[in-house]
Amino acid sequence: METVENFNKLNSIKRNEPLALIPTMGNLHLGHLSLIRHAKELNLSTIVSIFINPLQFGPSEDFSKYPRTLEADLDLLIKEDCDFVFIPDDKELLHDIKNLKAPLNNFLCGKSRPGHFDGVLTIVNRFIEVIKPEFCIFGQKDFQQQLIIKEHLKKINSNTRLLTHPIVRDKNGLALSSRNGFLSKPRREEAAKIYSYLKEISEHIFNYDQDEEKFLEYIKTLKDLYQKKFSEEGFEIDYLELVNALSLESLKIEDKKILIAVAVNYAGVRLIDNICLTRSIS
Ligand code: PAJ
Repeated sequence: METVENFNKLNSIKRNEPLALIPTMGNLHLGHLSLIRHAKELNLSTIVSIFINPLQFGPSEDFSKYPRTLEADLDLLIKEDCDFVFIPDDKELLHDIKNLKAPLNNFLCGKSRPGHFDGVLTIVNRFIEVIKPEFCIFGQKDFQQQLIIKEHLKKINSNTRLLTHPIVRDKNGLALSSRNGFLSKPRREEAAKIYSYLKEISEHIFNYDQDEEKFLEYIKTLKDLYQKKFSEEGFEIDYLELVNALSLESLKIEDKKILIAVAVNYAGVRLIDNICLTRSIS
């Protein structure tokens, strides 16, 4: 694996196969590694960036205590046979950066983390500008994030295509996240309830066979019921939403692709998860 630390070296890397960029903030786990494996299956060359992006953290968020584990990350990347790791210098990367406004920002995490997606999009756009990869790969764990980047790439008519990969979970169902490390083991077990509830909601929707006219009412009832259940289990809900998975807008009766998305604070840690399902309505 070759380490790239500046734009000069970036320009000189040899590209034999199409290149896939996998942007990360480090503290790598199987969720991140699954994105590399996905690229490898497609015979793409891989460049993983590791950069804890200050632009996407709010003033009261966990930038300073975000886990920094570079040595272990590099070992993992070597084991995965990653081709390049990009560890940019802050000054070079952020110099004269074009601050972008993220689309689809008025929904879900965009509402509760003002400026977060602008910061994400600004940095990802910068990576794409300087690396010019044929592909970039994002996890569906951050569903809104990948949708925002996809929308942006479409808007600017980019040559970089976005690929996504499903959420990788712990054995108990908890979506893997760098923030899980802030939870004690028993708390991590309890937090697995998040996925159980999402699965229950999706099964209820999938099995709905009552009057279609009453579907939206049913969705509202489900949402209220599960908000209560989450609270009773000690999760402080930021949002629990059932929305159109393509636009993130409120559901309409005819919507087929539904996103069930949740963000909670649990034991002082922000956790997000989602399930995307397709309804078959005749
Ligand atoms: P980070 O949280 O490190 O995530 C990097 C990538 O890994 C994202 O595409 C994320 O969706 C994916 N990922 C994380 N956990 C996953 C899981 N359990 N299953 C599948 N994919 C998972 O997301 C960011 O960093 C940053 O916002 C970034 C895009 C790097 C911009 O700074």
